[in-house]
Amino acid sequence: MLSSRSVHKKELNLNRPLAIPAYLEKTYWWAYVHPKAVSFFERQWLVNLILWGNFSRLRDAALNELGQSLPGKTLQVACVYGDFTNHLARRVAAGGQLDIVDVLPIQLRNLRSKLPENAPVELHHRDSTDLGFANASYDQAILFFLLHEMPEAVRRQTVSEALRVLKPGGRLVVVDYHQPGRGHPLRYLFRPILNKLEPFALDLWNNEISTWFPEGFAPAHIHKETFYGGLYQKVVITV
Ligand SMILES: C[S@@+](CC[C@H](N)C(=O)[O-])C[C@H]1O[C@@H](n2cnc3c(N)ncnc32)[C@H](O)[C@@H]1O
Repeated sequence: MLSSRSVHKKELNLNRPLAIPAYLEKTYWWAYVHPKAVSFFERQWLVNLILWGNFSRLRDAALNELGQSLPGKTLQVACVYGDFTNHLARRVAAGGQLDIVDVLPIQLRNLRSKLPENAPVELHHRDSTDLGFANASYDQAILFFLLHEMPEAVRRQTVSEALRVLKPGGRLVVVDYHQPGRGHPLRYLFRPILNKLEPFALDLWNNEISTWFPEGFAPAHIHKETFYGGLYQKVVITV
């Protein structure tokens, strides 16, 4: 069943106004909000380039962590340029469902245009800090390169919401930036670029993901793996 702010892939209903978060308007307007952003960035080779050639590797690391076949309900918080969601949707098991949340209608429309008609996917126009889904209603959730774009308070609330909607035993997979090792040239070359273009991203260099867990939250299990000399991380949190 669809809630009033939920939108099926075929019928994107965006009547309920939702404020665009200030950091998106101010810092990321060029990447997501501007009407020409989608036509510029929606290129597989470009998103791969932005991740220094690691897009497929990181996408598959996230998806393989979730599993080849995904029963039950899966939540992806925020749209992603490239083919991430198409690959994720293909893994949804018969009778399963993939819900995707984004705060920007332009991004939801773009995602809809990329997905096949029969994909078991529902699109939801919502803010990650106020998902509006029931407690313990998802089997797994994914945050793919979202947290580094957020100011700390928003990041904390987004992590809290993603954990809240997971069932006991459910897993949250986070893939994002991480501080590369001392011998990594990008540790020195990439820092000023990130600092300029993605001012919140260095928080993920300097802190563990667990820094933004809600107070009192104790995961049943947590596992971290790094990639590409430490520039990227995958953290899997079992509730
Ligand atoms: C997942 S992140 C970045 C992913 C990756 N860099 C890429 O290639 O697209 C980008 C998405 O997050 C969405 N987003 C940012 N803040 C959000 C929020 N508070 N709630 C829901 N979606 C949000 C943006 O609208 C955008 O579609």
